[in-house]
Amino acid sequence: MTETDPSPNHLQLTRGGQLRHFLTLDGLSRPLLTDILDTADSFIEVGARSIKKVPLLRGRTVANLFFESSTRTRSTFELAAKRLSADVLNLDISTSATSKGESLSDTLLNLEAMASDMFVVRHSQSGAPHFIAESVTPGVAIINAGDGRHAHPTQAMLDMLTIRQHKKQFEGLKVAIVGDVLHSRVARSQIRALNELGAEEVRVIAPGTLLPRDVEELGCTVEYDMARGMKDLDVVIMLRLQKERMEGALLPSEREFYRLYGLNQEKLALAKPDCIVMHPGPINRGVEIESAVADGRQSVILNQVTNGIAVRMAVMSMAMSGQMAERQQRQLEQQEGRA
Ligand code: NCD
Repeated sequence: MTETDPSPNHLQLTRGGQLRHFLTLDGLSRPLLTDILDTADSFIEVGARSIKKVPLLRGRTVANLFFESSTRTRSTFELAAKRLSADVLNLDISTSATSKGESLSDTLLNLEAMASDMFVVRHSQSGAPHFIAESVTPGVAIINAGDGRHAHPTQAMLDMLTIRQHKKQFEGLKVAIVGDVLHSRVARSQIRALNELGAEEVRVIAPGTLLPRDVEELGCTVEYDMARGMKDLDVVIMLRLQKERMEGALLPSEREFYRLYGLNQEKLALAKPDCIVMHPGPINRGVEIESAVADGRQSVILNQVTNGIAVRMAVMSMAMSGQMAERQQRQLEQQEGRA
């Protein structure tokens, strides 16, 4: 599996342009991204009801396959599937047969034998969801819940929903992503989404050691100095230092990183007064963000979590409709072939 984009659109879209898997934002058009956001908006209302359910995935089985740990993403996917009335299987990979030597392909074949309709996959290898989408039985949808450093498309879309709620539109927005961009699948998907949706500027702010090579090619400008980088911002997105992915010393020390790139009230005051503060979580207080900022009036970090449910409902229901449309098409073609 490679670090380059492994997910051409013929895999994730039907011939009619509907979503059937959700693997990456690469190649997805502005109208489709806007459709996801609008559909998510319609599900926010469901979350406000006393009975938080719609029957869109009734009778369907969704298997959550998290090969890497997660709290927010996994629980919001589970809630989203349940609110769509699906039956949900949460596979604890650490105690599952994979840890007894079963291959990924065999685990999947077994889950398919249990008639799963959708796999939500998180994996440390870039390209794992794409690999599964290529080999899975037709009719089963694959949703990427974060693969290696490659992509985290539902996270980026819940971030876009949060930005749209607060800023109304993307045109004219200056957005900065700060910190460990090198290891961040979230940053890669956010840069892609912001560019496609028409943000004026996407800026990354980080030391050179925490930036991927040729980062500008992702569609962003680069600023090494945080004070300069905070100027005129409408949105600042902080990233966690992904120490578990770091090989060797990329940083002088955590304290030095916090001094230079940690978001505190002083640095935030350099942005526009209505600049919102975001973070995909988990947050490390005192490492990349000060508590007063994380809990402050400009922080929308918990709104992001809530929006995660609506966005995941949107993506799951759209992919299932795409799969159903395709199944009908296949049946039609078979009938015509027989006629
Ligand atoms: C992120 C991830 O796993 O990519 N978190 C998330 O999904 N909410 C970022 C991180 O782990 O720092």
